[in-house]
Amino acid sequence: MKGIYLCLCLLVMLATAADTKKAPTTTKNVMGDVFQSFLNLIPYMNNEMKFRDSKNETLIRNNLHKLTNAFEHAKHLKKINSPGFRPSYDVIVEHLKHTKETFDSGNKVFARTRLKATTQICMTCHSQLERGASRNIKKKLESVTRGSFSSDFDYADFLYLTRNFNKAEVYYRNEIRNRIEKNKRLRKIQKSKEAHFLDYTIEKSIKRLITLHTKINYNPQKAIDVMKDYKNNKNLAKKLREDIEEWEVALKEWSKNDYRGKFTSRKQVESFLTKNLRSLDVSSLSDGSEDMTLLVASGALYRYLNRYPKSDIAPELLYWISVVDQQLNFNYLYSLSGMYLKECITQYSKSPFAKKCLAKYKDDIEFGYSGSGGTFIPKEERDEIKRLESVIK
Ligand code: HEC
Repeated sequence: MKGIYLCLCLLVMLATAADTKKAPTTTKNVMGDVFQSFLNLIPYMNNEMKFRDSKNETLIRNNLHKLTNAFEHAKHLKKINSPGFRPSYDVIVEHLKHTKETFDSGNKVFARTRLKATTQICMTCHSQLERGASRNIKKKLESVTRGSFSSDFDYADFLYLTRNFNKAEVYYRNEIRNRIEKNKRLRKIQKSKEAHFLDYTIEKSIKRLITLHTKINYNPQKAIDVMKDYKNNKNLAKKLREDIEEWEVALKEWSKNDYRGKFTSRKQVESFLTKNLRSLDVSSLSDGSEDMTLLVASGALYRYLNRYPKSDIAPELLYWISVVDQQLNFNYLYSLSGMYLKECITQYSKSPFAKKCLAKYKDDIEFGYSGSGGTFIPKEERDEIKRLESVIK
């Protein structure tokens, strides 16, 4: 058995070596490879029957391997190594490695869930990009249609990830409308005002639309317009309607602000941080009262950080990006928040903010592992903390 395994390993290594012959030289090239494998996988990842059909096993496995390899070979690239992207990079490499292993071990249901979740990790990088796709890629994108996805939401996420925002907006709105209709029918059948399907895509779609007009293309008035469309809709859950009203109030303030969606100087970043973030009580953000501020902040912080990774303010920006991620992206399979803190500690170990990042990292871990029976931090995590402490010393 061991022999066979070794043999397989060698084969995989040989195949990998063949792949590396033309080592990718730009992030664009890598993304081209990533994208082709991802496109090939789309019809399967959105259809459980197709995904589990043994006829398709080789095709799926090959593309999964290619996708994983493409990312693994990108480690050295400059763009990937900017502080805003690297944490996502480390997460996606781990994620795909495990997805591949899950698939190879025959657990296809779970492998498919994981593969679908990959889209969200792609988004964490792509929401930081300043430019759209190249012409070459745009052409390929045209061949991907709604028919390859199992819901408007999945298609919208794909469009969002490939930065086709106008079209993504149309499909998020479709999703919301269709879900509302389904819930209405269910209420009629069950003769209950409260009946609704257990799904979160209405809320997620609304959040994506707001993110689009705050974090990605800053235009608070457009975000307010989105909310106007939904806040009085009695078919939405009451809690969601209340949230929307709060968000609207917050964004109305932003629309009067002199902030224009990006920082063009160090002075502007400083003044933004002082006005909006430095006075926040980080431990009480979970009530959501500052969500719009965090959302607005994140877009510009990422862009500034990626453009000026050597700025002495970079570790503080990573700290805030970590705070934002913790509060707003809690539904991702992975929290990137801890990864941003590690980046702050290891890459900027001499900065006073590295200490602050470490303190937050330790607090978060402690909080994460505390329960009614006390706090139990696994050895792996304790070792990681020791490693991070030694970096600063
Ligand atoms: C670690 C960050 C990161 C992750 C994760 C990531 N990307 Fe990218 N992607 C980038 C960057 C940076 C660019 C811009 C490259 C450039 O223009 O030089 C890009 C560009 C692209 C492009 C456009 C390429 C072109 O020629 O215009 C496509 C398509 C793409 N990515 C697909 C994906 C898919 C699909 C995923 C998820 C499976 C993904 N990316 C995950 C960072 C990432």
